Amino acid sequence: MTKTIVAPSVLSMDYSRMKEQLEEVENSGAEWLHFDVMDGHFVPNLTFGPDILKGFRKACGLFLDVHVMITKPLFFAEKFLSAGADGYTFHYEAMDSEEEIRSLASLIRAHGKTAGISIKPDTDVSVLKPFLNDFDLFLIMSVEPGFGGQKFIPESLDKIRTLRGWLDEMQSQAHIEVDGGINQTTGALAKNAGADVLVAGSYIFRNDIAEAVNSLA
Ligand code: DX5
Ligand code: ZN
Repeated sequence: MTKTIVAPSVLSMDYSRMKEQLEEVENSGAEWLHFDVMDGHFVPNLTFGPDILKGFRKACGLFLDVHVMITKPLFFAEKFLSAGADGYTFHYEAMDSEEEIRSLASLIRAHGKTAGISIKPDTDVSVLKPFLNDFDLFLIMSVEPGFGGQKFIPESLDKIRTLRGWLDEMQSQAHIEVDGGINQTTGALAKNAGADVLVAGSYIFRNDIAEAVNSLA
């Protein structure tokens, strides 16, 4: 069985208690920290830029899993990579061509970082098939990107199963990450379907952090 990685999402932190919460996350056994970047264009919400990421880089030793929900992932890639991102995951829907997708994936890998691509709930999983060798991580959005606290979309499980089948067939070690509406129940369903990285925001930060992380692992 593949080990499950839990990635608490910074989006649901209590920003008046960031230092304590970050320490709790680091002591909980979570290995990754999920950092949601939103630009007000690709999604109707605004969050953080590279300077804030630099602060997280200084403050913690976790793998910084940057998920950009922005219209210009290419323009911002090096800014986030040099600010300390360990992984950079951008959206298929933000890109214009296969060439553009592949060149951004190679740029991320050239920095020695984890290259990720994500699809929104309405995007068919088959769009990822041409890129199975180009990425180290595939992120299946199980809610409409933009906000925390939404309900898990069960159809995401079929996408995860299909993708796991393709990756197993080629003996790929790439991660399948799932993001949105993850709690103990939906997390278990996603793991059974083949996901190995679980992002969770509200479930982790609205409960005891260590207990919630452990219930997902
Ligand atoms: C949504 C973000 C998620 C968000 C998940 O657009 O990509 O990472 O933090 O939040 P929950 O776990 O509350 O659904
Ligand atoms: Zn996310």
